[in-house]
Amino acid sequence: MLLTTSDKPKFFGRRKGRIIRKAKTTLLESFLPKLRLPTDGKLSKEDIFPQGVQKICLEIGFGDGQHLAGQALNHPDWGFIGAEVFQNGIANLCSLLTGIKEGNELPENICLLPERQDNVRIFDDDIRLLFARIPDAFLDRIYLLFPDPWPKKRHAGRRFVNPENLQEIARILKPGGIFRIATDHKVYKAWTLRQMSQDNRFRWTARCGNDWKHEPQDWVRTKYQMKALREGRRPVFLDYERI
Ligand SMILES: C[S@@+](CC[C@H](N)C(=O)[O-])C[C@H]1O[C@@H](n2cnc3c(N)ncnc32)[C@H](O)[C@@H]1O
Repeated sequence: MLLTTSDKPKFFGRRKGRIIRKAKTTLLESFLPKLRLPTDGKLSKEDIFPQGVQKICLEIGFGDGQHLAGQALNHPDWGFIGAEVFQNGIANLCSLLTGIKEGNELPENICLLPERQDNVRIFDDDIRLLFARIPDAFLDRIYLLFPDPWPKKRHAGRRFVNPENLQEIARILKPGGIFRIATDHKVYKAWTLRQMSQDNRFRWTARCGNDWKHEPQDWVRTKYQMKALREGRRPVFLDYERI
């Protein structure tokens, strides 16, 4: 499905940061294509994870990829789809999956680290461009970790948690599936609690403060979380079950 420029949702974040050096450029050119989702058509479990997986999870805006790479290692029999626009972050995820860092000699055929299963697929663009290709009730979990907070009132429309995106999240998540949101920003926290409480397709799973002020059991720390902790901010972890 080809979208014209005018159909495309506007993306307000960064697509590129510091210069991507040699090893990571090679990873983007030679390794990323092996993990990329098919470029067209509805996603099918059999096509993207032909080995068979118990669950399929999506991480939206995986940043440098620590959480995605960690979850994929911890759950070798689950399949993970990561969506990210930021090229430097995508290159970093490829580095975590292959063990190749700057300064390493580059092998002819770059492959996954031996301890890893082939259970990560990447969509290297705006997740909103993928939504229409994801079948109903396709996913067991969706992670949205430390999304850009866009704290100014006039930028509120850019926040990822919004009615339009929630419509798609509710559609592609299985009943009983979990939508996990983490944030360290008080504006985004209040915004998310309000948006989610107005949506009767989701149920907040927290029973007491401990449930959302502490990392969930199967948590893997992210770069933005570490930055927040260094700077004295306390993240919250909000799990919503699709009813
Ligand atoms: C603040 S960073 C957090 C990164 C990571 N989750 C972490 O905790 O370290 C937010 C990330 O979401 C990505 N992002 C924002 N909107 C996105 C979208 N619509 N589709 C894919 N990625 C998106 C940005 O490029 C950015 O890397």
